[in-house]
Amino acid sequence: TVLYVPRDAAALSVGAEAVAGALAGEAARRGIPVRIVRTGSRGALWLEPMIEVATPGGRIAYGPVAPADVPGLFDAGLLQGGPHALRLGRAEDIPYLRDQERLTFARVGTIDPLDPADYAAHGGLAGLRRALDMAPAEIVEAIVASGLRGRGGAAFPAGIKWKTVLDAPGTQKYVVCNADEGDSGTFSDRMLVEGDPFCLIEGMAIAGLAVGATQGYVYLRSEYPHAWRTLNAAVARAYAEGILGADVLGSGRRFELEVRRGAGAYICGEETALLESLEGRRGQVRAKPPLPALSGLFGRPTVVNNLITLATVPFILAEGPQAYADFGMGRSRGTLPLQLAGNIRRGGLVEKAFGITLRELLYDIGGGSASGRPIRAVQVGGPLGAYLPESKFDLPLDYEAFAAGGGMLGHGGIVVFDDTVDMAEQARYAMEFCAVESCGKCTPCRIGSTRGVEVIDRLVAGEAPERQEELLRDLCDTMLHGSLCALGGMTPFPVLSALDFFPEDFARHAPRTV
Ligand code: NAI
Ligand code: SF4
Repeated sequence: TVLYVPRDAAALSVGAEAVAGALAGEAARRGIPVRIVRTGSRGALWLEPMIEVATPGGRIAYGPVAPADVPGLFDAGLLQGGPHALRLGRAEDIPYLRDQERLTFARVGTIDPLDPADYAAHGGLAGLRRALDMAPAEIVEAIVASGLRGRGGAAFPAGIKWKTVLDAPGTQKYVVCNADEGDSGTFSDRMLVEGDPFCLIEGMAIAGLAVGATQGYVYLRSEYPHAWRTLNAAVARAYAEGILGADVLGSGRRFELEVRRGAGAYICGEETALLESLEGRRGQVRAKPPLPALSGLFGRPTVVNNLITLATVPFILAEGPQAYADFGMGRSRGTLPLQLAGNIRRGGLVEKAFGITLRELLYDIGGGSASGRPIRAVQVGGPLGAYLPESKFDLPLDYEAFAAGGGMLGHGGIVVFDDTVDMAEQARYAMEFCAVESCGKCTPCRIGSTRGVEVIDRLVAGEAPERQEELLRDLCDTMLHGSLCALGGMTPFPVLSALDFFPEDFARHAPRTV
């Protein structure tokens, strides 16, 4: 009998390791042979640790399982998928999972992340094999036709970026994966690496073939020790299996890949700071132009893509660009792996085609707040995203529609707050975060953020509030237009949205004359 137990960091944080140990121990005590396969997480995080058992009727899930539940589960016929209070039915029939469109995350939580045979048995490497038979320009054209846009947050068309690198003169080019996932409430990069690392490796190899790069780097967030171990083990396996190296899948083509640990700063997720850091310097933002596509790592043409962008490439090559473009709305084609976090009943990874509304996501899928209190605000797109009030919950998740409504989708992180939130505190936090994480290169961000904290403090204290609000808006305008990169340039979004949509939170304290 095969049992599946996740080794994803989120599952481990709620005791998956102890559950795996208890399952092995109980089976041994009863003299029953079982094989325990460690997987990634399916992403229904409130059900973790969620275990599955292979039965003739499919994989039956149980969760959340504690070590103390294990003997009772065996008594109830766990290995046959027997009834128990924790039984969830077939994993893919759990409504949360059933109602998703999993293209990029199709294998995450189901396969053994470090078994290339399991990967290939579930459709892996089909895209790379196809790409090996195509001319570089044809691969680029497929990515253009799929409509895939950068999933790091800026949504720049991935195919156009690849074309820029392909057309750039130079013999040495690079593919760099930005896996420095730093946005609050986001975890899709981590989950993908922990659950299906070969998918990223395959996507990067395809990118290398497309633009003429033989060397790739993954810049992985330093706070992801489990992902670090999984990815390094997967890269070693990929070399051993001939997926990477001088003779990719026996084609005679070369693609080498190295994993680098991030420097531990939010700004190192900004692509030019990331390149500085990869080159061994302090992660400080470079002025653009030149674009990294033309002059990136070590001054060479470089594809810098977010991890999810690259991990989506194998599907597009394997199934064809149209199969991907068939999902979505408007110019937002395909799916977005959304991450539901904060005060939400059913948090986790939700891969959906663009077009679903925030309300559907928060209530139909997420089940409302975890506290049971009304949801008052939602921050979409990380710490630089706007705070949206209930009146915006019918916005469809689509890059353009969302931007027109004053928000931004970013990397798909959604953090939920109930009616106990103090939005003035949140606005202050945005400025404080910017002050702490600023790389210091430009004045509006380096100094503006610190002044911003002070102005918000005076505003909330009721010190000539009209004057402070005017100052705050003026400062935000300077940061928005005068900052060199998105950190300083987008911090005004959470601040101004808090001020515009939740003004009452800034006026709680009695005015005081100064
Ligand atoms: P950007 O709009 O300046 O650039 C987007 C990408 O397109 C870059 O890779 C750029 O080099 C490339 N590009 C632009 N014009 C091009 C051209 N003509 N040819 C080829 N390539 C071209 O945005 P930026 O500053 O790179 O990213 C900002 C975004 O990052 C924000 O929208 C935010 O959502 C996101 N972000 C994501 C975080 C995460 O943890 N994933 C953290 C913080 C911010
Ligand atoms: Fe550095 Fe901030 Fe300027 Fe970006 S906006 S370059 S993080 S100082």
